[in-house]
Amino acid sequence: MGARDVGLPDRARAEGLPDRVAIWEVGARDGLQNERAVVPVEVKLEFLDRLADAGLQTLEATSFVRPEWVPQLADAEELLAGLARRDGVRYPVLVPNERGLDRALAAGVEHIAVFGSATETFARRNLNRSLDEQYAMFEPVVTRARAEGLDVRAYVSMCFGDPWEGPVPAAQVAAVGARLLDMGCSQLSLGDTIGVATPGQVEALVRELAVQGVEQSVLAVHFHDTYGQALANTLTALRLGITTVDASAGGLGGCPYAESATGNLATEDLVWMLEGMGVETGVDLDKLVDTSAWLAGRLGRPSPSRVVRALRG
Ligand code: HMG
Ligand code: MG
Repeated sequence: MGARDVGLPDRARAEGLPDRVAIWEVGARDGLQNERAVVPVEVKLEFLDRLADAGLQTLEATSFVRPEWVPQLADAEELLAGLARRDGVRYPVLVPNERGLDRALAAGVEHIAVFGSATETFARRNLNRSLDEQYAMFEPVVTRARAEGLDVRAYVSMCFGDPWEGPVPAAQVAAVGARLLDMGCSQLSLGDTIGVATPGQVEALVRELAVQGVEQSVLAVHFHDTYGQALANTLTALRLGITTVDASAGGLGGCPYAESATGNLATEDLVWMLEGMGVETGVDLDKLVDTSAWLAGRLGRPSPSRVVRALRG
């Protein structure tokens, strides 16, 4: 049997899916925040540029968090100063508090994301705040950011399970999400931070959000692939009408404050599935795979993405 000439799946249009999916690429942030060694800023900049060249239009670039908490992203100012911004590409950053917002505004950022927790324990571990205190921290950030003309996304972490608290009730997650949207956030990304969700839970949460008045059109999904469920969960979300999917080039990722979190859904694995089902992504898979193979070389270990390994292994 000969090798494939073209690194693309054969196409069979699947029904009940959107024509196009917007990929929210988190590799430079969720991926690199978890590397043991700090990745040099030049490598991060080349990574972002290559991702844009591969056709990704939303590149979460870095975080303006307290540098002592995430030293891997302490170069946020330097990164943004060196960024060769491209037309049609957005470079959102994570911002937890007003100090972070000041830094992001000074760096010329146009799009931010606040990141809340669905559980008390993770709010304390990730933000050093209680659940209620997280709202008090985010509220002035969202209000001020919007007054400055910024777009604000909200994440909710630990939507499906928490390593300290166990299963997380959908109603609890939906209440956190609805509150963040009420503050003025334009999109809600549902984070399976430790990758424990299965499709029935995804369906239950999206339905619970609808009961609490949250439409699918404002939702995004953010799956980590710890148990190999990320694609199944994504497909479930797409069939429920969600059209924004977070993914990380090469399957990099994790969360420094949730030890059981492993890599995100790999962007290559997502693109392979979507292309195969006739859903447009605008991504050049060949260029993307080259980028992840290049970065894996810089990081000194192979990419966990199945598609990267199949095409370049
Ligand atoms: P804190 O230690 O409580 O800080 O951290 P504080 O508010 O008490 O302030 C103490 C000092 O830190 C002050 O300085 C502040 O100015 C400074 P001093 O007056 O003492 O000289 N400070 C800052 N400096 C720079 N930038 C800032 C900043 N904030 C305070 N932004 C804080 C509270 C929220 C800042 C901290 O807990 C933090 O940075 N947490 C971020 C943790 C993080 O980034 N986690 C990973 C991202 S979340 C994730 O990965 C999940 C996600 O992918 C979705 C999913 O998978 O579910 C999004
Ligand atoms: Mg994450």
